[in-house]
Amino acid sequence: MLTSIKINSFEGNKSKELGMMYFRVAIILFGAQLLMGLIAAIQFLVPGFLFELFDFSVARMVHINALVVWMLYAMIGSVYYMLPDETGIETVGVGIGKLGFWVLTVAVTIVVLVYIFIQVGSGTEASIWLIHEGREYIEAPRWADIGIVVVVLIFYWNTFASYMKGKQTGIMTVMVANLLALAGLYMAGMFFTDNISMDQFWWWWVIHLWVEATWEVFVGTLAAYALIKIIGAKREIVEMWLWIEVLMLFGSGILGMGHHYFWIGTPEYWWEIGALFSALEPVPLIAMFVHVLYDWGKEQGIAHAEGHQGTVANNTPALSWIVMNAFGNFLGAGIWGFFHTLPQVNIYTHGTQFTAAHGHLSFFGAYATILIGMMYMGLQGAYGIERMKSTFKTKMALFLIAFGVMGMTIALTIAGYEQVLIERAELGAGWNAFFVAQEMPWYVQAQLWRAIMGVVTFVGFIYLVWDMLTIGKQAKEA
Ligand code: HEM
Ligand code: HEM
Ligand SMILES: [Fe+2]
Repeated sequence: MLTSIKINSFEGNKSKELGMMYFRVAIILFGAQLLMGLIAAIQFLVPGFLFELFDFSVARMVHINALVVWMLYAMIGSVYYMLPDETGIETVGVGIGKLGFWVLTVAVTIVVLVYIFIQVGSGTEASIWLIHEGREYIEAPRWADIGIVVVVLIFYWNTFASYMKGKQTGIMTVMVANLLALAGLYMAGMFFTDNISMDQFWWWWVIHLWVEATWEVFVGTLAAYALIKIIGAKREIVEMWLWIEVLMLFGSGILGMGHHYFWIGTPEYWWEIGALFSALEPVPLIAMFVHVLYDWGKEQGIAHAEGHQGTVANNTPALSWIVMNAFGNFLGAGIWGFFHTLPQVNIYTHGTQFTAAHGHLSFFGAYATILIGMMYMGLQGAYGIERMKSTFKTKMALFLIAFGVMGMTIALTIAGYEQVLIERAELGAGWNAFFVAQEMPWYVQAQLWRAIMGVVTFVGFIYLVWDMLTIGKQAKEA
């Protein structure tokens, strides 16, 4: 992937080149995310590990902020990558888009360095402006927030103007409308109130309405584009499904936000609203899952009928990750989300390792997978390869990362189950109960397994980077 800085067969397609620049930063941040996760996982087992050098609070913060930032990078990269294909024209304003890329990257670097070097301090207005805002997942200090908004405006303008000037496909129509909502929501997490309930109320507008509405629609558009490109899926069919998904995702996702309003001081009517609509949220995920498998089976059938042998996919690494997305989204968001979404259940599971289990499988399954798939599409384009086949490294990466994340999820689910039984049900959820539950063998063993599975995930990541660095050249030579 890094070598594609020099080698690229885009033939002057600047938008795709810019997409690749975003992908490269994304993969580096993904690596940083995993390293931070490993540090935090070790601290669960050896609490004194790196104490006062690199505290759990910092490792965890960088872990989840890097997660969000690398995904946003990969999303912007994907849009710049697919734009010329969908609009049929050169993307408008790529020059300023490149400037935006560098501004964003310098800002992200400074923010991360500040997180790492200034770990403790007072919670003043100056800290909010310069250090961080203390809002889980979106902690960037205010100066960076404003910078992010400016860069995103440039990006949005480029997308929108290219859409208006070029072809207006259904995929791009959903894309520009959805991106406006996605970017606009960021602002709900930018202002500050002293009231923690109000602060949380708005903060969920970003977090929940991102991952359970706008990001889901976003990856729907990516899947539609990728399926057309890789297996030649019929545009009318994928676009029809995309519209249905938009309808269903927004239908359940917006009011489904109630499942975060159970216990933060918001009115009690959210119990019923949250229970009903969030319980409906898995429906579109199941529909998506079925449709991807159905489409795939149908395309295979057509291939056989036309006398091709087996698969007609022109990029099996990308396709594998995208198929994994269908499974991962269904399992991580649909199943693990549904587990704890009813208030009658959530009163026991709220904020336990069960939540972390769901957080890992859903972010990975619904987003990491398809974004990695898009990076493979980028590699195929960068090297100008007609048919890119999975290598041994591709398969090792796929297997180890999937196995590692699933392993972590299962370990955390067991830890959460133990917390529900001991901390919540038996000991009544008090301060002391929290610590007693963390010393029980089930919990300790589960945390050990999570760390082991984290290492497995990291080894898979090394294979992934190795593959991305070599697959293009290998395919060219073959
Ligand atoms: C890809 C989509 C999704 C992602 C990435 C995701 C991610 C997350 C994350 C990271 C949290 C923890 C937030 C925190 O730090 O407090 C969370 C909480 C939660 N999620 Fe999801 N989620 C997704 C979809 C769903 C769906 C579809 C449901 C329900 C069917 C669901 C139900 C919940 C519930 C009930 C909580 C609150 C847990 C608690 O009370 O501790 N999620 N989600
Ligand atoms: C090397 C592999 C990884 C390790 C060892 C690891 C470890 C951790 C640890 C220790 C935490 C803090 C949990 C807590 O506060 O109780 C955490 C949180 C989190 N991690 Fe990871 N992680 C890894 C990979 C990933 C991946 C691949 C993703 C998603 C793509 C991810 C997403 C998250 C999220 C969303 C949270 C916040 C969960 C919540 O508070 O509910 N992590 N991780
Ligand atoms: Fe949610």
